[in-house]
Amino acid sequence: MWFFVKFILLVSGVSAITCPNGFTALNDKKCVQLFTTAATHLNAGIACSQLGGNLISIQNAIDNNAITQLAQTASNPIWLGLKCTQSRTPSSCQWDDQSGNAGTYNSFSNGYPVIEVGNCVYLLTQGTLSGKWSSGDCGSTALNYICEVAPTDPNTSTCSFTYNGNCYFPLTSELSQQEAQYACQSNCGNLVSIHSTGENDFVSKLFSGNIPTYIRIGAKSFDNGTHIWSDGTSFDYNNIGYDNIKLGQCYSMALVNDIVNAGKWISSKCDTALPFVCKRPQGTQCTTSTVSPTSTYGQCNGPMFLDNSGSFYSPNYPQTYVGFQSQPCSYILDTPVGTNAIIQFPVFQLDNQASIALYNRLEDTEPFQVLTSQFYSTNTWYNSSTNTMKVIFRPCTSNCQNGQTYNWRANFQPSTIIQPTNPSVTVTPNPNNPSGCNATLLIAPAQITSPNYPSFYPNSIECLYHLSTSGGYRINLYLKNVDVEKNFDYLRIYDSAFQTGTVLDTLTGTYQDKIYQSTSNNMLVVFSSDSSGQSTGFTGNFGAF
Ligand SMILES: *[C@@H]1O[C@H](CO)[C@@H](O)[C@H](O)[C@H]1NC(C)=O
Ligand SMILES: *[C@@H]1O[C@H](CO)[C@@H](O)[C@H](O)[C@H]1NC(C)=O
Ligand SMILES: *[C@@H]1O[C@H](CO)[C@@H](O)[C@H](O)[C@H]1NC(C)=O
Ligand SMILES: *[C@@H]1O[C@H](CO)[C@@H](O)[C@H](O)[C@H]1NC(C)=O
Repeated sequence: MWFFVKFILLVSGVSAITCPNGFTALNDKKCVQLFTTAATHLNAGIACSQLGGNLISIQNAIDNNAITQLAQTASNPIWLGLKCTQSRTPSSCQWDDQSGNAGTYNSFSNGYPVIEVGNCVYLLTQGTLSGKWSSGDCGSTALNYICEVAPTDPNTSTCSFTYNGNCYFPLTSELSQQEAQYACQSNCGNLVSIHSTGENDFVSKLFSGNIPTYIRIGAKSFDNGTHIWSDGTSFDYNNIGYDNIKLGQCYSMALVNDIVNAGKWISSKCDTALPFVCKRPQGTQCTTSTVSPTSTYGQCNGPMFLDNSGSFYSPNYPQTYVGFQSQPCSYILDTPVGTNAIIQFPVFQLDNQASIALYNRLEDTEPFQVLTSQFYSTNTWYNSSTNTMKVIFRPCTSNCQNGQTYNWRANFQPSTIIQPTNPSVTVTPNPNNPSGCNATLLIAPAQITSPNYPSFYPNSIECLYHLSTSGGYRINLYLKNVDVEKNFDYLRIYDSAFQTGTVLDTLTGTYQDKIYQSTSNNMLVVFSSDSSGQSTGFTGNFGAF
C-alpha cells in the first residue's frame, strides 16, 4: 500500500526547534528538562514517560558535554536511559529510547559498566570524572534525572491534537487492527497506546461531530493473559471495562456509554473495521511529499491514503497513464473531523473508457459521482458528505485510445479549514518555574505571571517571556490583572521575539483586562522591577488565533 503524508516544515524562530513548555532545546536537537528530585531509575523512567518522553540518551560527545553542563547546575549525578547486561561491555547496554546500544558511543569510566554494582547507568557531574558514566543499582539508588521529549511540531495545523509531546490523529475510516496499524505506520506513527488516565480522557475526546460508538486502540492480548501495545511501549496502564478473549484479542474504546462506559476498553475482534487513532511523537518529520509528482506515483497496487489536503496525480503524471497503468487505483482521503472532504480536478484528460468514481465513505459501494471524459467540469468542487472520500480511478484496460496525453491531477481539502482547537497543547508547567520567567520559549496556549504571583514580586528583577505559536498563527495575550509599582516597575509588550521590535504597550501602575495581539507568531513580554517598592505583579494567558 502507498500512503502519503504532509511534509512538515520547521519554522525558523529563536531556535531551530521549539520545545514543550518547561523543556529546553539542547544543541538544537533534543528537548530536555532536569529534575532535581532524586528518584530510582525505574521511577525516573516512569516520570519521563508520563511527560511523553524518555530518560535522556546520549549519542555523541557534544551532547554528553551539554548534558553534563546542564546536570551540573545541581550536585547529584543523573540517570541515563541506559541499561547493561554484561560488565565491561558497552555494547551490552541498550538505550531506553530504542536508539540502539552504547557500543558506538559511550563515555564509561575505565572498567565500566560493572553489572555487579547495578544494571543502570548514570552520568557523573562533579570532580575529575565529570562527564563519565558509571554503573548504579536500578531499584535502590536515587539520583537526579533528565527527561527528553520530542520537539514540538511547530505546524499545529498538521498536528491538531497534541498531548504531552505526542501528536494524535483521529481517523474515521474504518479499518481492521492490522490495516489501521499499517496506516499509522505509514504516517510515521502507530495505533495509539495509552499510559495514563489523563491520556485516556484525552483520546476519548478526540472525535467530534458524529462520534463513533467504538474506536480501535493499539492494545492486544495473548492467550497467556499478557497484553502489549502496537507501538512496543510497556503496558503500564489499562482501563479495561470488559475483558473476554472470546470477543477477540484486540481492544476498542467506547466513546459513548454502551456495553461499557465511555472511556472504558472492551475486547473486540481484530478484523472488525473500526475508526481508529494514530499517535506519533510531536515534531516527527514524516517525509513523503504530496507537493510534486515523483515516479513513486507510478504504480498503485493498493489504496493510497492522503491526509488533510494536497494534490495527487494519475500514474506516470505528467506523462500519459495509457500503456502504463491498467489496474484501478484507489485513494482514501481524510480531512479533519467535522469537515467534509472536497475534491476538484484542474487537469482532467481521460481516455474514453476511463472513469473516476467518488464515494462518500471508504465502505460505500455506490459512488456519489462518476466522472468520465464526457462528464466532468474543471475546477468544480465535488463534496463528500463525510470527512473521508474514496476515489477510484479506472483506466482503460484494452484497445486504449492513443496519440494524446491522458492524465489528471486532483486537489483535495477540507470544506472548511478548521483552526487548531484551543487548547491544542497540553502545557506541562515547569514546577521549578511556574511563572515562566526567562523560560526558553513558551508555546501557546499557556499562562504567564510575575514571579511569586499573587504574592509580591522581588525587587531588581528582570523577566523575559517569549510567547510563541506555530507559523501561520498569531498570539493573543490577555492580561487579567496588572499591578506594578507606578513609574518605577513596568511590563512591556513587544510585537516581536526581540526587544528591538515594535513596542505594543508599556504598563506601569494598575490595569485590568488588557488584550494584545501580535502580527506574527512571536511576542515578547518584559517585566522589570527596580530596587524598591513591590506589588502583586501580573497574571495573564495567551493563545493562538
Ligand atoms: C505470552 O505470549 C506471548 C506471545 O506468544 C509471548 O511473547 C510472551 O512472552 C508470553 N508471556 C508470558 C509471560 O508467558
Ligand atoms: C462544496 O464545497 C465548496 C467549498 O466549501 C462550496 O463552495 C460548495 O458550495 C460546496 N458544494 C456543494 C454542492 O455543497
Ligand atoms: C532573565 O534574563 C535577563 C536577560 O538575559 C537577565 O538580565 C535577567 O537577570 C534574567 N532574570 C532572572 C530572574 O534570571
Ligand atoms: C503548515 O501546514 C499547512 C498545511 O499543510 C501549510 O499550508 C503551511 O504552509 C504550513 N506552515 C508552516 C509554517 O510550515
